[in-house]
Amino acid sequence: MLKTMALLASLIATPVVAQDKAFALQIPDALIQTGFIKHLLPRFSLKTGIRITPTANAGDAAFGAQGTPVFRQGDVLWHLAKTDGPHTDAFEAWLLSDIGKRTIEAFAPNGAAMFSADINVKAKVQVAVITGDAVLGEKVGLQKCGRCHVVNHSNRMKAIGSTPSFALMRTFPDWQQRFETFFILKPHPAFTQVADVTEPFGSSLPSPIAPIEVTLDEIDAITAYVATIPPADLGAPIQSQ
Ligand code: HEC
Repeated sequence: MLKTMALLASLIATPVVAQDKAFALQIPDALIQTGFIKHLLPRFSLKTGIRITPTANAGDAAFGAQGTPVFRQGDVLWHLAKTDGPHTDAFEAWLLSDIGKRTIEAFAPNGAAMFSADINVKAKVQVAVITGDAVLGEKVGLQKCGRCHVVNHSNRMKAIGSTPSFALMRTFPDWQQRFETFFILKPHPAFTQVADVTEPFGSSLPSPIAPIEVTLDEIDAITAYVATIPPADLGAPIQSQ
């Protein structure tokens, strides 16, 4: 009797094992929309016999901002985060292999490759972005912007209440761009001088407000400092942070 059951169990187990060559991969909608996944996954499955089930929920692996960098879409570096296992391991290895890279770059819905397998380029750019000196940025920000903006708690009472605080502006999706170009955004051109960038104020048009002078390095530093400020909590949409 026991023997029969063992035999039965082994018979049942076999097809289950075969089916097991599969895993679930969480994929953000933005990536699905590109059509890239329909190009990528079947080619991997064809090579390895491992089936991948895309899911919007947590799976055995995920494309996103965490894990191993695997491909780049413009400025966005996509990563693969995964649990350990032969199939997820095989997928990561394949994405980083020559054949995987060629597959990634072969996706060109409009004639031009949409994804790059060169994952190092973005890493360099990121380093450049965060090299601004945040400590200097806090100091310069308080000195030169703090007259109007609440930079942090230390000048909370000295700024102009109607002017947006740095923490509030940090919630804008494009906050970085705005800080990098603040001197061309109103009201700043009327009173801001950036060394080697802006024209001197005309002598006949004295600035009505005490001018501020900043260098490009100081703007980088301020931007690096702002990156460290937690976005202001505006209520429901970002409460979870
Ligand atoms: C004399 C007052 C004053 C000073 C000094 C000042 N700002 Fe502003 N800033 C303002 C006001 C007022 C606004 C809001 C403009 C609006 O809402 O249209 C603003 C808006 C901004 C914005 C958002 C602009 C946009 O259009 O999205 C940024 C970024 C900014 N300031 C950065 C800075 C930085 C960085 C400094 C210091 C180097 C600085 N500001 C110095 C008054 C000032």
